[in-house]
Amino acid sequence: MADNNVRPETMERITNQELADQFIEEQVAELRNQIGDGKVLLALSGGVDSSVVAALLIKAIGKQLTCIHVNHGLMRKGESQQVIDVFKKELDDNLIYIDATDRFLDKLAGVEDPETKRKIIGEEFIRVFEEESNKLTGIGFLGQGTIYPDILESDGIKAHHNVGGLPEDVDFELVEPVKFLFKDEVRVVGKALGLPDAMVYRQPFPGPGLGVRCVGAITRDRLEAVRESDAILREEFEKAGLAGKVWQYFTVVPDFKSTGIKDGKRAFEWPAIIRAVNTTDAMEATVEHIDWALLDKITERITHEVPGINRVLYDVTPKPTGTIEFE
Ligand code: XMP
Repeated sequence: MADNNVRPETMERITNQELADQFIEEQVAELRNQIGDGKVLLALSGGVDSSVVAALLIKAIGKQLTCIHVNHGLMRKGESQQVIDVFKKELDDNLIYIDATDRFLDKLAGVEDPETKRKIIGEEFIRVFEEESNKLTGIGFLGQGTIYPDILESDGIKAHHNVGGLPEDVDFELVEPVKFLFKDEVRVVGKALGLPDAMVYRQPFPGPGLGVRCVGAITRDRLEAVRESDAILREEFEKAGLAGKVWQYFTVVPDFKSTGIKDGKRAFEWPAIIRAVNTTDAMEATVEHIDWALLDKITERITHEVPGINRVLYDVTPKPTGTIEFE
């Protein structure tokens, strides 16, 4: 028997729409064959991998698919809404949206250690997912957005950082239609499936989300400052044509305050730190040499529009010695 986890040598690299269409057609047939009239459950994060799996499954089996989107409260601005906007029409009641913000933030309250934060987020995610899936009946299959690098680098960054993952002790048969694809191929397929560019070309986003960018113990107000400053940064990068060009960019809000002046009064507030890096494999990274005028504009907006922020700092550290994230 062929090794189920080795990409077939005959498989052509998917580089254009025509090859993507062909892949989609083959996968739809294979999925129908594997699933028959069974029911599939998928954890839909809104990342490109799980979104492509959802779109493929919708095409193949329609309402035999149920998706659960867990909002852990650590999503970027507008991200959960985007998942709903893209998939609600086709999935209707089969898209289950769980706002678990309070559960996650209550569990994380006062926790400073980065790996403990990751562990709590990973474990709580499984718990919420299990609780919701237990309410459903007749599910025989579990969809997963595994891609080929996840198999090749089982000791890679995702595996290293993401404590937990999905439950392993369930009786579902796995459905992994993109497991032999590299990231660039997943994007080509996503585009061919008609997913919006904002989803298809999304920059990498860690599983624990903004939680690792709200350095130290997470508080709701500081988390909101991370979310709002990140939204401004993304908007300005997009306007400046940097969105598809810079590999990863985001803001971090550390747990310290410094003195500043707002409206003529002393303001003791947090700084927002901008990180913008380029890399091919995330193992090493260089800093984007960002245009000074753009930095000025972003600083002006963040300090005036985001409550609690009175300074903006630019991180000029490559990896190594810095990691890409702050935790
Ligand atoms: P670092 O900070 O280790 O990040 O230089 C390298 C890449 O991995 C992402 N990253 C994560 N991804 N779960 C993930 O799925 C995590 O816990 C996690 N931590 C970091 C990071 O965003 C960067 O792209």
